[in-house]
Amino acid sequence: MKFNILFVCLGNICRSPSAEAVFRGFVKEKGEDHKFEIDSAGTYGYHEGEPADARMQTHALKRGYNLTSISRAFNPTADWDKFDYIVAMDNSNLRNLSDMARNSNDLTKLCKITDFSNNFNHQEVPDPYYGGDQGFELVLDILEDASHGFHEFIRK
Ligand code: 4NP
Repeated sequence: MKFNILFVCLGNICRSPSAEAVFRGFVKEKGEDHKFEIDSAGTYGYHEGEPADARMQTHALKRGYNLTSISRAFNPTADWDKFDYIVAMDNSNLRNLSDMARNSNDLTKLCKITDFSNNFNHQEVPDPYYGGDQGFELVLDILEDASHGFHEFIRK
């Protein structure tokens, strides 16, 4: 059985493409990549068709993550059915997604990545778009940390 996982942020050019690449790297290291289908999307389609933000790509690449995703908007018609876990990056994404849920079963698939943090107290992955280098590094730090807890959660 495959686990289908969708990471979601606002623009799908910074946080969720990073979450996708970090988690993909994590499961690959464990030799479990064949067990996972991993994708990302944004609640806001403004950047649709664009590659990940160049600054995010640079910071990710320094840690060995190649951000290959092309931005797309979350598609309620297809995505609630296709994915087992829909993982938001912040509270606003979480609210937007829950507003798009069609029924209570959809809502059971919804969670927030920081719920699985071990070493960070952040309740959200902060939006790095309008900030500097530190913000992009923090995104990666939080995601690398939370990947462990999220993996444990879904393998249970
Ligand atoms: P993301 O970052 O949600 O992590 O992809 C953002 C990307 C674009 C915008 C905001 C956040 N924007 O306002 O265009």
